[in-house]
Amino acid sequence: MTSKALIAGNWKMNGLLQDGVALAKAVAEGASSVSGSDFVVCPPATLLFSVSQALSGSSVGLGAQYCHPADSGAHTGDISASMLSDVGCGYVIVGHSERRQDHGETDADVQAQAAAVLAAGMTAIICIGETEAERDAGETLNRIRAQLDGSVPNGAATSNTIIAYEPVWAIGTGRTPSAEEANEVHAAVRSHLSGMIGGDASELRILYGGSMKPGNASELLAQPDIDGGLIGGAALKADDFLAIGRAAAG
Ligand code: PGA
Repeated sequence: MTSKALIAGNWKMNGLLQDGVALAKAVAEGASSVSGSDFVVCPPATLLFSVSQALSGSSVGLGAQYCHPADSGAHTGDISASMLSDVGCGYVIVGHSERRQDHGETDADVQAQAAAVLAAGMTAIICIGETEAERDAGETLNRIRAQLDGSVPNGAATSNTIIAYEPVWAIGTGRTPSAEEANEVHAAVRSHLSGMIGGDASELRILYGGSMKPGNASELLAQPDIDGGLIGGAALKADDFLAIGRAAAG
């Protein structure tokens, strides 16, 4: 486990201006008293500018949920990595299973997006995870290794890349693998990337995502290869989100 846990909130397509800014302010205020964890919030694109202002002067990082691989051009409705950096983002989630599913994003798409994130000087949070059918077929580790091979770009290093292991069947369902089962996958991710990624793989941050809540966070975060969480539903309440950060301290 890296020295401090990283707790990242994926707000998904939730939040209007007033509530989003209030949530960001509450996280910023609470985070200052949680010393064992770093926090990042990833609001929808419409809130990035206001949330960036609300977080100013705090230790909480700002992330986006997607970016287009190109830097600019004729891509109606899309947002580039340099635009996200310009508005104050330090992180971009790429390859979330909801985007892979809703938008048909492939590993190659995710790799190109992650490359754009790195080129813009930000950190990519690259999501991987097996479906329930793949787990039942005993294919979990093969699946995640194939996703890593396809999605991690050249130039990825422990300083600019975070992996989020999110079993698809655990997202938004209230179900999770046991802490030991999750850790087994994290350990496989670390060993697979060692030698493939720049820097010392023991320093790579590997987050668990999928129904992490204040009630199950301590057990998951106590595992040696779980370095933090990517939180969906529980990131929409500042108290729950901060409690997950507190749980990391044990
Ligand atoms: P959840 O979502 O915490 O609501 O399961 C996690 C995610 O999709 O990143």
